[in-house]
Amino acid sequence: MKRIGILTSGGDAPGMNACIRAAVRAARAQELEIFGIRRGYAGLIRGEIGLLDRKAVANIIHQGGTTLGTARSPEFMTGEGRTPAIENLEKRGIEGLILIGGDGTFRGGTALSQECGIGIIGVPGTIDNDIYGTDYSIGFDSAVNCALEAIDRIRDTALSHERLFFVEVMGRHTGFIALESGIAGGAEELLIPEIPFSVDELCSHLERSFKGEKKSAIVVVAESGQPGDSFRIAREVREKLGLDSRVCILGHLQRGGSPTARDRVLAGKLGVAAVRALVAGKSGYMVGEMNWRVAYTPLRDTWEKKKELNVELLEMRMLLCE
Ligand code: F6P
Repeated sequence: MKRIGILTSGGDAPGMNACIRAAVRAARAQELEIFGIRRGYAGLIRGEIGLLDRKAVANIIHQGGTTLGTARSPEFMTGEGRTPAIENLEKRGIEGLILIGGDGTFRGGTALSQECGIGIIGVPGTIDNDIYGTDYSIGFDSAVNCALEAIDRIRDTALSHERLFFVEVMGRHTGFIALESGIAGGAEELLIPEIPFSVDELCSHLERSFKGEKKSAIVVVAESGQPGDSFRIAREVREKLGLDSRVCILGHLQRGGSPTARDRVLAGKLGVAAVRALVAGKSGYMVGEMNWRVAYTPLRDTWEKKKELNVELLEMRMLLCE
């Protein structure tokens, strides 16, 4: 293998740049040429492809977002959409691709690989941490720390005003960000899609707390595929208990900012592992980290198997959130 490409696709995540940097350095150490593909699959279709040298990845390790740009490309999910992408890869003699993103990214790459035989290695990059085959995805730790800082700040004002707050965090259909930021932030309640809850249950819990010592509380809510649902929950709580509250939706704040040390180290490790995997002739795998070691998971498993929340954290939540 002489030439490889790298792209970021789907939602950006802090640490993607650190991963690009690591892959470029690892590729150059193996005397490979590495091409950066701009705007994910949309750029691959349009031929937005350029050689990456050492300079191209200088001083990006601390930057959030992705210097390659990203997009969600419905066009690439069709055979006709992929045809120009294949031509662009063949024109440049690119034999392997590193795909940084989530399961949508990996599905698109798998279809491409089946059609033209290109080697592909996926790297999990999403704040949601919902990808099977890795304990952590790149960007998750930064997003959790961003949410935690927000929860800490909101606690100050919640205490001063003796108020109930709903803090809504991202996570698409999963509660990974909510669970870790809620536990770390000492939330009184955690609402996550994996654990069904009713507003009645929430109200009786809050009623007990407010009849006791509590004068303020923080409820961390996972967006559960419906951003803004916290407003409905807050309204129903007000109707049932007469408890006034405020809602804070953290939204895309959680996707930006400088990556944490943990995310940068993980990104470096997985960027290097991805290059090594391609050079070793592996294809159709995601490189992740399990129990601190690099793990290879067939790409198909990443969307067919469900990643479960950490059971110990779930148990802790019962004890610590009150
Ligand atoms: O997958 C990352 C994520 O930030 C989710 O947590 C969120 O539901 C979604 O992307 C938002 O997507 P968009 O940036 O397209 O609004």
